[in-house]
Amino acid sequence: MVAGGLLLPSAASAQQADGERLFRQRCGTCHSLEPGQNRVGPHLSGVIGRTSGSVEGARYSAALREAGIVWERGTLDSFLAAPRQRVPGTSMTVGVPNAAQRAAIIGYLEGAVAQ
Ligand code: HEC
Repeated sequence: MVAGGLLLPSAASAQQADGERLFRQRCGTCHSLEPGQNRVGPHLSGVIGRTSGSVEGARYSAALREAGIVWERGTLDSFLAAPRQRVPGTSMTVGVPNAAQRAAIIGYLEGAVAQ
């Protein structure tokens, strides 16, 4: 299997690297990308296409479990921009107000899923 990242044009690769760094800094304390490794938040392996609140063994708020959101670029973007506005009652309180940083993080999550 060829890693998707190798085929990306350089601008996208730079964004991917940026996304990885941002993910470590802003999300990694609470989220792992290893399946089954739930921290304060659920693991985010395969999060693209996943329904909200569906990781077994993760501690979710009732709000997120019942939200029925399918995570893809658009829904992740609005959730990460303002989690409690998108899902009132969610226990994830920290957002990423900067749109470029959100795009980089989401790009990284998309790439991480393809590997
Ligand atoms: C302080 C801890 C913390 C940080 C930092 C954090 N999260 Fe979360 N995240 C959570 C918790 C807790 C939940 C579960 C929320 C709930 O159940 O309402 C969650 C839920 C999520 C979900 C929904 C997952 C699912 O299975 O439905 C996504 C997607 C997500 N976080 C992405 C991110 C990203 C991307 C970042 C970094 C920009 C981030 N989170 C930073 C704690 C955190």
